[in-house]
Amino acid sequence: MARKPFIAGNWKMNMTVESGKQLIAELKPLVKEAKCDVALCVPAILIPAMVKAAKGSKIKIGAQNVHFAERGAYTGEISAEMLKDYGVKYVIIGHSERRQYFGETDDTVNKRTLTALANGLTPIVCVGETLSEREGNQTEKVLDKQLTEGLNGVEDVTKLVIAYEPVWAIGTGKTATDEQAQETIKYIRKKLGKLFGVKNANKVKIQYGGSMNAGNCKGLMAQPDIDGGLIGGASLKTDFATIVNFDK
Ligand code: PGA
Repeated sequence: MARKPFIAGNWKMNMTVESGKQLIAELKPLVKEAKCDVALCVPAILIPAMVKAAKGSKIKIGAQNVHFAERGAYTGEISAEMLKDYGVKYVIIGHSERRQYFGETDDTVNKRTLTALANGLTPIVCVGETLSEREGNQTEKVLDKQLTEGLNGVEDVTKLVIAYEPVWAIGTGKTATDEQAQETIKYIRKKLGKLFGVKNANKVKIQYGGSMNAGNCKGLMAQPDIDGGLIGGASLKTDFATIVNFDK
């Protein structure tokens, strides 16, 4: 069966209750006819208000991180149970900004992924190489490690989403070409096939992320292995709806 496309926004550390509510109100009618799954991953403190704002629409609300412990003495952290309490469905795990600025490793990505899955959340696990890794022909090696260690012990890989986000393309306006993104995502699927079996790998949704916008989304989405997008900057405006409607 064909994989249903999935477009997710990542608001990062942007928006307030007011501006978030306003944007969701503007997006709702624009994404009404969308054929794909749609999510907005918002700052944790905005989750309750945005879940309410998006109610009755195609937009599902996601989180940008989750702690790996079920509960306990982890000041400042948020558990899977807390996210579920508010009707959260998706959670971004291992975004490159978390790897770069907050000490996220393949090991912590793995722990968060297992906890999210155990609690019925759908992890959007981010992988991707830096510019120097790409230039040094290390892309496949980096992805191998991120996938092997990050997904270690996952029982049903079809229950998660992978976002391939080349670090050099995030927030830089430098999108990977359609061919680069396709070629790398095809490689990721092949690696998932080795780790989890080809049949399962063919069911996993793999998104592209990194300066994806209203102008370049059609070309990227036309690639056979690209099943969606993880959208940063362009998810802060109604351009997000244009990406959601990439097939129109
Ligand atoms: P960008 O961010 O679309 O602003 O490049 C993508 C992401 O970091 O998920």
